[in-house]
Amino acid sequence: MNKFFISTPLGFEKNVLEEMKEAWPYLLGKDSKTHSMAFPEVELLDGGLEFEADPFAAVQLNFFLKSANRILMRMTSFRTKDLPKFYQKFKALPWREYLVHGKVEWEVAAQKSRINNEKRLQESAEKALNELFNIKSTQETAHFVSCGSIYIRMEDDLCTISLDSTGEHLHKRGWTVLKGEAPLRETTAAYLLRATIGETTPGELSKITLFDPMAGSGTFLTEARGLWQGQFQREYAFQKWKKTPKLFISPTFVFNYDLPASKIFKAFVGTDLDEKMVKISGANFDSVEAQIKAQEKEDFKASKVQWVHQNCFEGSFIPEAPLWMILNPPYGERLSSEGVGGLKTLAFKLTAKYSPEKLGLLFPEKEKLMAPPPGYQIEKELKINNGGLRCLYTLLKREGSL
Ligand SMILES: C[S@@+](CC[C@H](N)C(=O)[O-])C[C@H]1O[C@@H](n2cnc3c(N)ncnc32)[C@H](O)[C@@H]1O
Repeated sequence: MNKFFISTPLGFEKNVLEEMKEAWPYLLGKDSKTHSMAFPEVELLDGGLEFEADPFAAVQLNFFLKSANRILMRMTSFRTKDLPKFYQKFKALPWREYLVHGKVEWEVAAQKSRINNEKRLQESAEKALNELFNIKSTQETAHFVSCGSIYIRMEDDLCTISLDSTGEHLHKRGWTVLKGEAPLRETTAAYLLRATIGETTPGELSKITLFDPMAGSGTFLTEARGLWQGQFQREYAFQKWKKTPKLFISPTFVFNYDLPASKIFKAFVGTDLDEKMVKISGANFDSVEAQIKAQEKEDFKASKVQWVHQNCFEGSFIPEAPLWMILNPPYGERLSSEGVGGLKTLAFKLTAKYSPEKLGLLFPEKEKLMAPPPGYQIEKELKINNGGLRCLYTLLKREGSL
């Protein structure tokens, strides 16, 4: 058993725990069959969750968590105020079991500690690693590709050393590749979609059309399509570990997962003012569909999807009800210059025109909606950091709808 830390955006911790609980029963055991390990005890912290588990199970969470940042394997944690002790402790760790050579990337953060100098911490750790791997000069490893990332955190003289199991941030799904201006992070989109879905059952969901009237690169729709799918199209750091189970480097391991049929909306519709974005979002969605098709094989059912080039306030196209709308419009100047004011006008116009059962809007927090449009109530308000901007996700629900 090892300790693991899943880092998450602030506020997403409980949601990630829910995702972890959903994924857990489908993980594989060492015999390549669905495992039966008990769900671990999880401690919720600010910005992440910590738990103890068999690494074989824990690293697989990388395939399934949609709103987490990354999964770190804790190597050790100890108190120290002096560098020689840090060096000894670091060197005693079983790096040779995980790393294929000594060239790694470093993430070092130190604060409120006697050893506050991040550069010196890294140099000390590098020295230890070089000795372990018999590296005499940096030239020897110059042509090596990094084989992992080591995280060192020193806070209040408590040193925590971790090995990253993820690699590229988890918002990189390995599917959507083309982006427009101000695209939403996939992790944020997944979080907001799950908050919108709430307790809605798969049966109810299968009757609803999900509509993003300002779709941009289509993040909401592509995430909604892949919400209950694994992300198997990309590489994870643990797949490069020396002792990574052979299973996870086999090109066909994904077929060992006995995943449930995906919960899915009846249809997906995206519109955008910008013709280029309509093409981009269409291509991104197709790429998700292609991956799901490869995974699901004969169980695969193509989604009903439609992309329309139109101004959502003036265009004549209205998707089939019952509708849920979700969007992150451009903020500030751009939207007002197109004749539409802030959040209030946007919410009133969209509900009047499309009568959605739900309308989720991600907008700067300073423009909080004081009163919902007629016939609607505010179901949820969630604070979100969207690319450094404090935003509020306002979810409106039509009165009398499910
Ligand atoms: C912030 S981006 C949306 C980003 C998107 N969620 C993504 O992840 O890529 C806003 C989008 O709204 C589109 N837009 C702005 N005004 C619009 C309007 N009146 N009708 C339709 N689309 C509009 C813009 O062209 C832009 O692609």
